[in-house]
Amino acid sequence: MEFLGKPRSQRAAFLPLCLLFLKILHPGHSHLYSSRYASDKVIRLIPNTEEEAYALKKIYQQLKVDLWQPSSISQVSEGTVTDVHIPHNDSRALLAFLQETNIHYKILMEDLQKVLEKGSSLPTQRSRRSVSGYNYEVYHSLEEIQNWMHHLNKTHSGLIHMFSIGKSYEGRSLFVLKLGRRSRAYKRAVWIDCGIHAREWIGPAFCQWFVKEALLTYRSDPTMRKMLNHLYFYIMPVFNVDGYHFSWTNDRFWRKTRSRNSRFRCRGVDANRNWRVKWCDEGASMHPCDDTYCGPFPESEPEVKAVANFLRKHKKHIRAYLSFHAYAQMLLYPYSYKYATIPNFSCVESAAHKAVKALQSVYGIQYRYGPASSTLYVSSGSSMDWAYKNGIPYTFAFELRDTGHFGFLLPEMLIKPTCTETMLAVKNITMHLLRKCP
Ligand SMILES: *[C@@H]1O[C@H](CO)[C@@H](O)[C@H](O)[C@H]1NC(C)=O
Ligand SMILES: *[C@@H]1O[C@H](CO)[C@@H](O)[C@H](O)[C@H]1NC(C)=O
Ligand SMILES: *[C@@H]1O[C@H](CO)[C@@H](O)[C@H](O)[C@H]1NC(C)=O
Ligand SMILES: *[C@@H]1O[C@H](CO)[C@@H](O)[C@H](O)[C@H]1NC(C)=O
Ligand SMILES: [Zn+2]
Repeated sequence: MEFLGKPRSQRAAFLPLCLLFLKILHPGHSHLYSSRYASDKVIRLIPNTEEEAYALKKIYQQLKVDLWQPSSISQVSEGTVTDVHIPHNDSRALLAFLQETNIHYKILMEDLQKVLEKGSSLPTQRSRRSVSGYNYEVYHSLEEIQNWMHHLNKTHSGLIHMFSIGKSYEGRSLFVLKLGRRSRAYKRAVWIDCGIHAREWIGPAFCQWFVKEALLTYRSDPTMRKMLNHLYFYIMPVFNVDGYHFSWTNDRFWRKTRSRNSRFRCRGVDANRNWRVKWCDEGASMHPCDDTYCGPFPESEPEVKAVANFLRKHKKHIRAYLSFHAYAQMLLYPYSYKYATIPNFSCVESAAHKAVKALQSVYGIQYRYGPASSTLYVSSGSSMDWAYKNGIPYTFAFELRDTGHFGFLLPEMLIKPTCTETMLAVKNITMHLLRKCP
């Protein structure tokens, strides 16, 4: 830091100021979750046989691990990778079990707290505003994101209109940005949401990046101009506002909403299992304490209901639904709830193929693509399947970087490359929409 070379007396005077600054700059990070993740581990396991998979499911239940990938115990199966976050007090038991059973494993993170603290950049770099205004290369709290939206609504009223589609369980506004050149003519639209799952912070960062790029390149980039002239984009930077806020203040690895349950102490519903499409079937849990809890009934979550209502109302115009998640590096399309190909498969497939190639052309990052069920895992009640079933022909879910090295703790340094490459994929899909599918 700047004051390191200064005489001692001056340094002492600077120090309290600096600490004060740090506190302001790190609203969510000020206590770094009270060091609750110290010595927690993240372990990657690959069961080779059905027996090993069965044994793993049992031990996961006993130890109450935090599953990172896949997201539910029912999706653990032979030959597939599982990444688990195991609290420090239970990690010894898990490791002993793994050695005993000879199940193949690799420790991805020895000390989760240390990774978490390293991931956010140095406080001196972590200014809220970069030289040219807003800093898009840091993760922003919900309050910051909402202030940013209000600011854009005031300063870019020609291209942006901000509105609310309802309130969250805890009473927060569910804000959406309508982006595009306003014209009288009928315009088709693309819906984009980020942050259905609270801990996947790269999602909201991408939504912000998308809006920034649109505003910055509207005049200079013919593709972007065409997109904004011919389409509207409805962008919801943070879908699960309560959960996202909670992941900043209390639990970095919170996934669900924050709704209460009458019979259990556990809170929250998986907002990507709560949609009325094969609701609460395979890949979803009926238990309120599980991370993939489907909720008491479809659209029980006010956030899901608000978005579903909006999409129902505007489905005639909305041609594409894009949802941003992490992590896996995949571009997924329906179906998620069953192994089957959709009608018009080849149109969607070729859009995905081109998008993934465009993404890869930037830094060589490889994405897998395909129907969600066979590419990732089967999950029922997802927003993507619901949007598709409700008449939106192009529906995709992105699983952004990485493939497990940092997992949900993707460092801020990687926001820019991740968003830059993803931008190309989204533009490619969008331009595909503007053409007639062959
Ligand atoms: C570890 O901590 C969790 C949460 O505090 C607790 O539920 C669990 O019983 C503990 N496990 C052991 C082996 O002490
Ligand atoms: C966005 O700006 C418009 C026009 O100035 C205003 O009517 C609207 O209330 C603003 N949206 C929000 C959510 O404040
Ligand atoms: C989409 O990606 C493909 C494959 O990389 C490329 O050939 C095509 O030019 C891209 N189209 C647009 C509009 O970016
Ligand atoms: C398939 O494509 C055709 C022609 O573009 C279109 O009329 C039809 O509605 C599409 N079907 C579905 C299920 O998207
Ligand atoms: Zn997700």
